[in-house]
Amino acid sequence: MNKKEIEKEYKEKINLLNKFNKYYYDKSKPLISDSEYDDLKNEILSLEKKYIFLRSKKSPSNIIGHKPSKNFKKIQHRVSMLSLSNAFSEEDLKNFEKRILNFLSENAEFKISYSAEPKIDGISASLTYKNGIFEKGLSRGDGNEGEDITANLATIKDIPKQILNKDFPKDIDVRGEVFIQNSHFENLKEKFANPRNAASGSLRQKNPEDTKKIPLNFIAYTFGFEDGLKQKKQSEYLQKLDEWGFKTNPLNKTISGIKNLIQNYNEVEQQRSNLDFDIDGIVYKIDDLELQKRLGNVANAPRWAIAHKFPSNKATSKILDIDIQIGRTGALTPVAKIKPINIGGVLVSNATLHNEDEINRKDIRIGDTAVIERAGDVIPHILSVDKQKRLKNSKKFIFPKNCPSCGSETIKEFNKVTKKVDAVRRCSSEGYYCDKISIEKLKHFVSKEAFNIDGFGKKIVENFWKLKLIKYPQDIFNLDFSKIENLEGWGKLSVQNLKYSIDQKKNISLERFIYSLGIRHIGLENAKLLSKHFVSFSKFKNLSKEIDYEDMLNIDGIGETQVSSIRSFFSNKANKKVVNELENVLLIKDAVQNSDDGLLNNKTFLVTGKLNGISRAEVKSLIEENSGKTISSVSKKLNFLIVGEKPTKKKIDYAKQLKIKVIDQAEFLKMLNKSS
Ligand code: IVH
Repeated sequence: MNKKEIEKEYKEKINLLNKFNKYYYDKSKPLISDSEYDDLKNEILSLEKKYIFLRSKKSPSNIIGHKPSKNFKKIQHRVSMLSLSNAFSEEDLKNFEKRILNFLSENAEFKISYSAEPKIDGISASLTYKNGIFEKGLSRGDGNEGEDITANLATIKDIPKQILNKDFPKDIDVRGEVFIQNSHFENLKEKFANPRNAASGSLRQKNPEDTKKIPLNFIAYTFGFEDGLKQKKQSEYLQKLDEWGFKTNPLNKTISGIKNLIQNYNEVEQQRSNLDFDIDGIVYKIDDLELQKRLGNVANAPRWAIAHKFPSNKATSKILDIDIQIGRTGALTPVAKIKPINIGGVLVSNATLHNEDEINRKDIRIGDTAVIERAGDVIPHILSVDKQKRLKNSKKFIFPKNCPSCGSETIKEFNKVTKKVDAVRRCSSEGYYCDKISIEKLKHFVSKEAFNIDGFGKKIVENFWKLKLIKYPQDIFNLDFSKIENLEGWGKLSVQNLKYSIDQKKNISLERFIYSLGIRHIGLENAKLLSKHFVSFSKFKNLSKEIDYEDMLNIDGIGETQVSSIRSFFSNKANKKVVNELENVLLIKDAVQNSDDGLLNNKTFLVTGKLNGISRAEVKSLIEENSGKTISSVSKKLNFLIVGEKPTKKKIDYAKQLKIKVIDQAEFLKMLNKSS
């Protein structure tokens, strides 16, 4: 790249960053996530580092935040609200500590204690208290000048309005983070892209009554201006904040030594997904406030603190193609084939696009540059595409109107229950007519929860299918083993083993059998309910004759959707043939009936604590086998509370209060005429 090109790239990045700033600060509608923002910012900073000729007034190295929104009165912060520099590795932390020691002209022996505080991803605010009264609350704004959002902040329960403690400073700006809990965000998903947007949107409402509707939280962690603060350490200050009635992060710790910081970082990262709020790293602050003062600030960030960020699980890559996969229920799932990219240690080359609606909503096209996220074990997905990087001749992706496998029309169904058109488009063919659906049905048939045939996995299904050895489930039980023996990779012994595994599974329970058929909306639970209801295979099979569909609706857990799906399954000739032919080769066991005359008939049970040599699941089935019922909490409906080791005391107390019989394991077994 020549100088001109570098300058051009630099300017483009700065303009982009300013656009994101504008959306974030003025419109309360962030366009990108924090980590993407950080990435872009870092790219700009590293360009500046590499090429000294690059300088822009608008560079993030000169600006802390962005000008605040016009809707609120602007007020100068008495002490500016700084940002934090980032660390991504142990190396970065070592350098951070080295710089501090150099600055203080101390050697490596000098022990530094840090306050390690999980960094909540929310919106920061500064609260001014004079003589213990909450007087004013400002947003961060551009760091120097914030917006007066006092009325909105006053609606937050976590923000004390009056503090009576004698040791509370007579004048102080308490600073912290406003955020929304993930569980509360669940109900706001329709309106906001993430919890942070929801918090930011709520805080910027013109009418505080509207802010009140969205449950915000506040966690305090630092101070700005202060007069009368007696604490000498950050950790002591945090403790005091608690005493004064503020909320602080329960995961805050005081730690020294980089190794220990890293250990804590790893531990917190493990807990991250279980927390009810988003954190994007850990902030380390020198604990000694005197040292903090000595160290002061560099540009817009303190020298005494750093944010140790969690690795981003997102990456940018190019969409090479969009594939359409067909599932066993005929659903067409678009999958983006992307230029392979390492995301958090895993090479990713496919990302799901969910369905047609998702593609349209995000306007995802072949050739686009996309941000891909891989979180935990879930299939990687596309977060967004960069429309600015899109080539001029790019075309909108048209979802196939015909099934790519069998050519049948694809349709979007109208869901009678939700009264909405499905987001998913499906192949309208009748099951086994479509090859792809057929293969997927077979894969389901042999899967773990279904027939679970040892050594008969997805690969073998595909292989045997190609060789025309199987087309319908019943073919599995009529395989021509002499043909298989001659196939590459097979021998006498492996064929013998396969034959044995298949034979073993010819004896099957009704519930597994129903599940194996792969009827839409009939998963494991529903198959179990149906098996209990019909008891015998013949009753289930004759369903199409009896047409006792109405009766099925009486099963707790089965609704119209399931019933209509079963109806359509049996109205299909190919399905009927499959069921009939399977009947010829299998032995389908009746469901174990729960008689009404069991020993525990009409009695309800709840277990608290651990029982000796018998698991919870086993107790439950024991009770059910004897016509009893288990319930999930102590209430008037409960007849017996079974108490094991280390029980929940509250449950026992409450049960006694309700005059419910409290029994131990031996007494319970006695009821079943068993001894312990
Ligand atoms: S201290 C003077 N402590 O991180 C250093 N900030 O990038 C800045 N943040 O604007 C404030 N948790 O929104 C501090 N325990 C914590 C924090 C924290 C989250 C946010 C805050 C700030 C941003 C800096």
